[in-house]
Formats: sequence, C-alpha cells, structure tokens
Amino acid sequence: MIEPVKGHIRHHFSETDSTNVRARFLSEQGSPEWTIVTADFQSMGRGRRGNIWISESGQNLLLSVILRPQRAMEYWGCIPLLVGVAVVDALAEAESVGSQLKWPNDIMVDSRKLGGVLIETGETDGQRWMVAGIGLNVNQTVFPPDCKIPPTSLAMETGKKHGIDSLIPPLLDTLGSWYRTWNDFGNAKIIAAWKERTNMIGKTVLIQSGTSKLIGTMHDIAADGSMVLYGKDGTKRNIFAGDVTILSMNDSE
Ligand code: BTN
Repeated sequence: MIEPVKGHIRHHFSETDSTNVRARFLSEQGSPEWTIVTADFQSMGRGRRGNIWISESGQNLLLSVILRPQRAMEYWGCIPLLVGVAVVDALAEAESVGSQLKWPNDIMVDSRKLGGVLIETGETDGQRWMVAGIGLNVNQTVFPPDCKIPPTSLAMETGKKHGIDSLIPPLLDTLGSWYRTWNDFGNAKIIAAWKERTNMIGKTVLIQSGTSKLIGTMHDIAADGSMVLYGKDGTKRNIFAGDVTILSMNDSE
C-alpha cells in the first residue's frame, strides 16, 4: 500500500557527502518508503552519468526520497520521467514558475537548466529500493563558468528569493500523486504527462554517450520510457541513456 505523502520521516544534514548516498544507506537499513533526506551542502553531490552536482551551501534544494515501488521492474524506466513531471507541476503550482522537461528528466526554463533528477536503485535482503534525488537551483545566482548546460535558478527567473524548505511539501504532494497514478495505471499516463511538459518532440537532437554521437529527430517516448529517435536515414532507435543536446526546432532546420 502507498503511504500518505505527508507521513514522511525527514533526515536533514547541514553538510553531507550526498543526500542520495545517505538515502541509499537508510534504504539498505530498511527505512520506509517516503523517508526523505535533505542537506544544505553536499561535498560529493552526484549527477547523472557520473557527473558531479555542485550547489552553493544553503541556496538550493537538495532532496532525496526513498521509494519502494511495488510494480515489476520492467515498469521502473518511467519513474525518472515521473519525478520530472512532479517537479514541473510543483514549480507551477507553488511558485508560479513555468518549466519544461528535457529527456530524461532535466528541469529546464527554455534552454537553461533549473534542476535535475538522479534515480538510483538496489536490492537489500530481497527488498528492492529506489532513491529519487532532486537538485533544484533556488536562490543561487552565480554558477561555475564551465557548466555543460547554462544554469538558471528560481531567483534568476523571478528576480526574487524563494523559500527552500517550503518547496518540499508541494513537491512531495505532486510526487505522491503521480506515483499513485503510476502504481494504479502504469506507464501510459506518465508518458502522456511527460510529453505535455516537453518541447523536444520533433526536434533534432544530439545524443552523446562516451565517444559515440548520434543525431536524429526525437519522435516519441516508448512504453518503457526510452526516447524514440529517427536518424537522418530513417532508422528508428530507442535511446536508453546519454547526454542530450537539442540542436534545432525541427528536422528541416
Ligand atoms: C543531474 O545530473 O541532472 C541530476 C542531478 C541530481 C542532483 C541531486 S541533489 C540531491 C541528490 N543528491 C545527489 O547527490 N544528487 C541528487
């Protein structure tokens, strides 16, 4: 049974290595679903694909949520998309900030990155667990010059400071709501919601993974959460991982 979102246990660190690492340990020790871990500062913040996540102390939201999905693992590929949808909705509802999703789950304002999601999974004593890590730039306005994607924050978008802790309840509410939808109905509603919150469909994209580069048109999201890409030669591919850059508005540009 899905626990009510408001019944969460919170572990807060003024400084830790990574909230995802702390949440992973708690998961391994049997902490219940919806336990959350937050921090003011991470010394080894983790990003997707082995990247580091750098965040100025006390300026941004660093949140990890323990989940214990009951659905078969073949459905889990949509959870990264689900978390992205929940973040976009929480920002719209609680902060009146419009954002879009970039596959799989970057939170964007136009071409600038407002936040990211890192999902980690494992199994301890036959119990599967998942940690959904969310990093959201809230009040930081100065960023390292070498960011791969130009960053932004809520403060930069709105010109005012935002509460950080006050973002957590609306975020857990939208996350809980989409999670229950996924649990009850499966992937289709999540994919439909994700597609309503992106402007990537039909665009030319570059997918980079290690030394491999692939250019194509993003056509759709498949039932397993992968990106459906058509190459210039018409070859259809499903993309499961990679760094994605949007190159143009449509294939003819
Ligand atoms: C990305 O690469 O876009 C994902 C970034 C995820 C960062 C968050 S911050 C809270 C949680 N703890 C981590 O170490 N990473 C995630």
